[in-house]
Amino acid sequence: MTEKLKGLILSGGKGTRLQPITHTSAKQLVPVANKPVLFYGIEAMVAAGIEEIGIIIAPETGDEIREVTGDGSQFGAKITYLPQAEPLGLAHAVLTAEPFIGDAPFVMYLGDNLLRDGIVSLAEQFQSSNPDALILLTKVPDPEHYGVAELHDGKVVALAEKPPEPKTDLALVGVYMFTQAIFDAAKAIKPSARGELEITDAIQYLVDQGKNVEPHLVDGWWKDTGRLDDMLQANRLVLEDLQPVQDGELIDTQIEGRVVIEAGAKLERCVVRGPAVIGAGARLTDAYIGPYTSIDKGVVIERSEVEYSIILEGSKIADLGARLEASLIGKHSQVVRTDGMPRTFRMLVGDKCEISLV
Ligand code: TTP
Repeated sequence: MTEKLKGLILSGGKGTRLQPITHTSAKQLVPVANKPVLFYGIEAMVAAGIEEIGIIIAPETGDEIREVTGDGSQFGAKITYLPQAEPLGLAHAVLTAEPFIGDAPFVMYLGDNLLRDGIVSLAEQFQSSNPDALILLTKVPDPEHYGVAELHDGKVVALAEKPPEPKTDLALVGVYMFTQAIFDAAKAIKPSARGELEITDAIQYLVDQGKNVEPHLVDGWWKDTGRLDDMLQANRLVLEDLQPVQDGELIDTQIEGRVVIEAGAKLERCVVRGPAVIGAGARLTDAYIGPYTSIDKGVVIERSEVEYSIILEGSKIADLGARLEASLIGKHSQVVRTDGMPRTFRMLVGDKCEISLV
């Protein structure tokens, strides 16, 4: 391989499974342990020595992604934004990136995915064994929900997208290594029944053309954060590796376990049981924060208990009569109990929200 490896991160898409958060914001910017999901992918690429990264963006959320992620200098990389007019599939996104990629081999990373151990060993395997493509696989208990690969003699021989009767339990992880061959494959295939150019079809095309598609089994955890449950689990997994930091102000507050308290946060008469992270400028009073909780910057929590949840910036939670759990609260939202009469529920709720009351 002569050309230097480039990076391609897919941050377009519809994000329907994470509505209503995705009505107003990109799912790739939802913070996991107070850092946007997308940043983990960028950092993994930089750690693997990749300097040039292209990011696929959608018309609705592209500007927000540009603004937060910038030109890449904060990561030590050069970022180029690649607008995709419509989310016509992962293989369509590959074609959208063709002018940016040029002749370079590249790693493609789904912007809502998290891979605990990064991509260094994968990039090394790709560069030493020189296959036409390299796909990441991991064993899953429910392969019928994933793209699934069949192997023979250490090579990929067949792929299937969400097969009702999977032949193996090896699911495709959202990270791939490609050479130029993928562009011809993406041009040769037809849209699937759901109207998308599927990356599994493009890789199957490579296999059918006799190309060398190598598998790479992932040891550490991998998480696709496309749904609420997965997002909360990803938050838990990242928080498992948290190193405690205490930069905030604590008054009559008890901290147990590994907790990060960012600068400017103020906690008064609280109990925080880690792993948990409390963002810059947050104000917590008479609150209990339980394990696997990420509280973003500027959040206010008063006389309430929160556990196994992600609370986005600028939100307020006050006087809840029961513990808030397994929840994702969007930016600048309010979940509060009021004393006024009549004693009614008052709500301003966006489309496709979920509210469970006790
Ligand atoms: P998905 O999560 O498979 O698709 P989606 O974002 O449309 O979500 P949903 O199924 O909930 O509607 O996409 C994986 C990643 O790839 C995600 O970061 C979005 C991105 N993507 C693109 O950039 N372009 C595309 O055409 C598609 C389909 C996805």
